[in-house]
Parts: sequence; C-alpha cells; structure tokens
Amino acid sequence: MKHFISTKDLTTNEMFTILEQAEQYRRHHPKFQHQLFAANLFFEASTRTKMSFLVAEKKLGMETLDLQMESSSVTKGESLYDTAKTCESIGANLLVIRHQVDDWYQDLVERLPVPIINAGAGKGEHPTQCMLDLLTIYQEYGYFNGLKVVIVGDIKHSRVARSNAQALHTLGATVFFAAAPGFEDTTLEFPYITIDEAVEKCDVLMLLRIQHERHDGGQYESESYHEKYGLTIEREQKMQDHAIILHPAPVNRGVEIASELVECNRSRIFKQMNNGVYIRMAIITTLLKEWGMYDDNLTKKRNTPNGIK
Ligand code: CP
Repeated sequence: MKHFISTKDLTTNEMFTILEQAEQYRRHHPKFQHQLFAANLFFEASTRTKMSFLVAEKKLGMETLDLQMESSSVTKGESLYDTAKTCESIGANLLVIRHQVDDWYQDLVERLPVPIINAGAGKGEHPTQCMLDLLTIYQEYGYFNGLKVVIVGDIKHSRVARSNAQALHTLGATVFFAAAPGFEDTTLEFPYITIDEAVEKCDVLMLLRIQHERHDGGQYESESYHEKYGLTIEREQKMQDHAIILHPAPVNRGVEIASELVECNRSRIFKQMNNGVYIRMAIITTLLKEWGMYDDNLTKKRNTPNGIK
C-alpha cells in the first residue's frame, strides 16, 4: 500500500492488520528516532480529522507542518498539486490532504514521491474515518460477518457512507441505507429501508449529518426532518439492547439525532474520535514502512502509562 486513498483498494487482510496495529498502539507505540515531517493540507474545514492526525503524528515523534489556507499561497491561486509538490520539495515525508474535489488525489499519487493519505475527498471517500468506524465496531462485536449495519441520512453527499459501505461489505457485514427522499445514492447498490425498520433491525446504526455545504439545502426544516427521518428518543427505545450508535460528527443535535442521545449508553460517538488517533497512527506507520522511512525493528517502543490516553 503506497498511499491511503480509498477503501476499495483495501483487502480484508490489510484492514484487519490496521485494526490490530491500532489496538496495539493504544498500549505501546513507537516514537521515530529520526526526523520525519508530516504536512497537513486541509482545504476544507475539519476539527476531528485534523486534530487527531496532529496528535497521531506527534505521538509518533513526527514534526508537523500545518498549512493555514487563509494565509497560504492557495489564496493567490496556487493549485493543489503545486502546493503538495512544494511541501514535498521542502522536506515533507508524508502528505495528509483534505480537499473538496471528489478525486483530487488522481493528479498527485503518480507524481509525488511521498505517501499521501486521503483525509476527506469531496463527497467521494473518507477512508481514515471508515477505519476508525470499523475499529469501533470491532471493539464491540469482535467480528463483521453478518452484522447488520444501517447507514442513515444524507447518503448522496456523504463520503463516510461510501467508504463504510464498501469496506463493511468487503468484511461480510450486511449493509442497508435509510435516507429521506432526495438523499439516496443510486450509484451505491445497497438496499434502502425506513428509519423505523432500521432501528429495530440494526446491530450498528451509523447516523450522518445533512451535508448542507454540498447541496442547496433548505429541503428540510430541522424539526420535521428529526421527526420523520432522525433518531428520536422514541425510536432509540426500539433498538435491540446490544445495538450501538455511531456518527462521524460533527453532530447536528436535534436533527439527525436527539441531543439527549449523543452521549447515551449505546452511543460510541466520542469513542470513535478517540479511536481515530490510533487508527491514524497505524495508517501512518504502515505507509512509512512501505516507503522504507520507518522500520519497527530499529525503533524503541514507548509505553503509555495506565490512565493516559
Ligand atoms: N468526522 C470528520 O471528518 O470530522 P471533521 O470534519 O471535524 O474532521
């Protein structure tokens, strides 16, 4: 694996290796003994993905370059390729990129001699989010085969839905979608059910935010969307005892999920965020090993004291 771009590229074995590596890193993780720079190029807003990449890189001992878009030469019209090539030329050993174009990476992966991680591509893919979602499910159940996972919300504009549906299908889970009219994605061949069927059927309910920034919006009033298509308190009570709630966040409380449910017993939303750090550490080391920039036999392990995340 030279780059981390799409869940379509990942074999079952590669996914399990990353999940197991992330779990190991929670207890013990390497700290690189030589200088390596990670450039984080976020052309779209981010809190979780950017912050957890920064934490992951720092835990591994990397130097972090955090391009501030509003004060960078992107404002003078510099292209994504030229920005990425510039970072590589001045010493970045790894590029972590989020960009609004669905396939921004096409122009970069064959031309740049460093590993590239897709931290979100328009409404295309969000593979590192998918891996942390998989880790959260795996921690809960220990398997994927036969699990009923329902992805609920604005499927059409969601990179999280695409990455997860592909990966969960590869791993043997049974994937369903539930969406309000207009939010279906006919390019993805998974069956649609209603939110009321979803809550009763699912082992995992993966909720999505309405991606207002990717469409005209204004189609639904928050309150009526919540009542018709969201996880209300009444619907949550119909879920099976063991079923869990995931959401990539940011959450629109009172729209796709009742505010009271964001931190309820079956919610794993903040657990997902914590898992994101270790998953991203595992993805970074996997790529750096592949490129010969890191060898775990030559790197001292650093123990994490009990009680410290
Ligand atoms: N889940 C996710 O990608 O969140 P951010 O947009 O805050 O990074």
